[in-house]
Order: sequence, then C-alpha cells, then structure tokens
Amino acid sequence: MGTGDIMRDKVTKNTILDMRQRGEKIVALTSYDYLCTRIVDESGVDMILVGDSLGMVVLGFENTLPVTMEEIIHHCKAVARARPRSLLAADLPFMSYQASVEDAVRNAGRLVKEGGAECVKLEGGQRYVPVVEAIVHASIPVVGHLGLTPQSVHQLGGYRVQGKDNESAEGLMSDAKALERAGCFAIVLEGIPWQLARRITEAVAIPTIGIGAGPHCSGQILVIHDMLGIHERPLPRFVKKYDELGLRMKQAISNYVQEVKEGRFPGMEHSYDAGGEKKDRTAGK
Ligand code: KIV
Repeated sequence: MGTGDIMRDKVTKNTILDMRQRGEKIVALTSYDYLCTRIVDESGVDMILVGDSLGMVVLGFENTLPVTMEEIIHHCKAVARARPRSLLAADLPFMSYQASVEDAVRNAGRLVKEGGAECVKLEGGQRYVPVVEAIVHASIPVVGHLGLTPQSVHQLGGYRVQGKDNESAEGLMSDAKALERAGCFAIVLEGIPWQLARRITEAVAIPTIGIGAGPHCSGQILVIHDMLGIHERPLPRFVKKYDELGLRMKQAISNYVQEVKEGRFPGMEHSYDAGGEKKDRTAGK
C-alpha cells in the first residue's frame, strides 16, 4: 500500500446508514473500469457509482439517454472485478424502469446478478414509488435521485437548477419523503439550491448525497472525469477540479510523440540484448 491508502471493512448499505446516523460525511464518486476503481477504492471513497454519465464521459454521447443495460452491465462487471470495499451502486439507464414495474425489477436484478452491483439508483419521485417498493421487495437496495435528473433533460427543457420556486421546492420535499417511505436507503440530490437540500436532509432520516446541492447534504458525489479535469468541455459551477489530468495526459503523450519522431525513444534501457543475462520480468520469459 502507498501513502494515503486506506484499509477498511467492506462498505454496505448499513454502513452508509450508520454514517448518516453518526453525522459522518459520505463520499461517493463514479467509476467505470477496473483500474480506476482500484484507485478510487484505495483512496477511501465510500460508494462507487457506475453512473449512466458513462454515456457522456466514456462513450461520447450527447446525454445519458442512449445508454443501454448492456453498456452499464459491461462496465459494472469491470468495476466489480476490482472487488471494491466501497459500496458498488449502478444506475438503471433510461427506459430500463420507466415502462413497467416488471421491467424495473428484472433490470435491477440484472445489474446485481450480471453486473455485480450491490444497489441500484433510479431517477424520479412519487411516480416511482411502486417501482422502488417492488425492487426493494426483491431484496435490492435502492438509491433515489431527485432534482436535476439528467434522464429527464427534454422534459426539464435543459440542464437547469430545480426547486427554485416554492411549488417545485415543496414537490421535491414530498418526493424525498415518498422515496424514503418507499424504502430507498439514500437519495442523490442534484442541481438544487443548497437551502432546499438542507431542508430535505433535515426532513428525512436516510442520507442525502449531493451533486450541485451545497454543503449540507449527508455526502457528496462527483463524476470522476470532471473532478480530475480529464476533459476540456466547460464544467458546471458545482464541479471542483482537483487536477488537470487531461492537460497532463496531453503533455505526456506529446512528449512520447516527439521522442519517437526524433528517435529518442526507445533507448537501450528499453531494449532487449540478444546475449543479456538478466531476465526481464515484464517480458515473462
Ligand atoms: O450518472 C451519474 O454519474 C450520476 C451521478 C453524477 C449522480 O447519476
């Protein structure tokens, strides 16, 4: 283990609930592949989400709507192979739970059975109470997601902060209480004023995980590509870039390009000698 690595017990749904009880902040982050998951997990993140943001940051779609069950399962399997100590959540993608309760339960089941997810997340409020109840009844823990719900981008008329007026704020408050009653063990609050996020957090006993919802939520989640600064597109105000990895990657790759062009790479230290005595471990022979 390197500096900063954290040894800890497996995080379960109950750990997340206990953290809320103790007032300990919950840290969540997205991850979509094996290697990143190892790094994320060893850094002490409590919950890893194979989010449908996958569509935008990994697969190059305009929004999250085209993401399929197969794509989420494919990436969730890779994440699960890292055997993270963090709780592993997976998103139910658009149209995998909207059409019927039966679809929802089957698809949530696939995320667990095929993908290795330990809980699932879905977007929406009161209308999805029967869906949440049925999935929980199938023994699959559910995380709700309210506010700026990206799967409703067309209905919302764009990616806009939600719950700014009294009526929609009260609607979101009722949604949060309904999701809690339906059996969600946590709720993601995205793109809402911090005052409303604080009120919701105080009104429900389950943890709220904020993204663009201010500092008073029980925890926070970000998209890993955003917080590492891997891509160059303009980011929403709520993202804090902890690095400029995109720029650093570009610099490293440009150095490689230049060195190959100029014949400076590979050097003899990267080359095999026909009569060499030392075996190279990485060559495996
Ligand atoms: O898809 C996603 O990554 C998400 C989180 C950012 C909340 O839903």
